Amino acid sequence: MGAFSPEMRERAESLVALYPERRSALIPLCHLAQEEAGYLTQPFMEEIAELTGTTPAEVYGTASFYDMLHTEPVGKYLVGVCTNIACLLQGGGELLEHAEQALGVAAGGTTDDEMFTLEEVECVAHCDKAPAVQVNYRFFGPLTGESFDNLIAKLRAGEYDGVVPPHGTLVRVRRENGIEVPLEEVFAERREMDRAKAERKAAAEAAKAKEGN
Ligand code: FES
Repeated sequence: MGAFSPEMRERAESLVALYPERRSALIPLCHLAQEEAGYLTQPFMEEIAELTGTTPAEVYGTASFYDMLHTEPVGKYLVGVCTNIACLLQGGGELLEHAEQALGVAAGGTTDDEMFTLEEVECVAHCDKAPAVQVNYRFFGPLTGESFDNLIAKLRAGEYDGVVPPHGTLVRVRRENGIEVPLEEVFAERREMDRAKAERKAAAEAAKAKEGN
């Protein structure tokens, strides 16, 4: 049995079909896996590799490179407090200290109930609302200690469900309405691309062999 649930596996396959090269779907599939499991477990990396024609090592290499992809467990909500210059001048440092106390974890930590992972982040382009906080890439600000506590309470109570997706995923990567091309056509084009690629490779090898003679 695969790591993706049957429904997610179906979505994963439709995502793969959107791209001329299967490997181009690697990052969207990582987001999809995070939407399902919160982070990229080994079985997910193996299944993504199988779906994209890559290796689990390549999936891990990609996932460990990008900040928005996680290879370790994170809370349902990633709370990033900005301490870059505009926010710092408006109390971002104090807000981070408050957040650490309120959540009971230092920046980088996850609460025991696995609801929140707290991060100190660089500018998130919300400077006009300094000090700014991002929660799963949705932006809030300007926040005080009190409004931070309110935000956390609302997240806990589920009042932002539907607005703030779980596990830091970007629901924007969902492609409910993909390119309206029949799958057979996509696969035929892909076969043609593979054939052309093989031809180019053979021609390059033949040219190299000729040079060597
Ligand atoms: S400096 Fe904090 S959002 Fe830009």
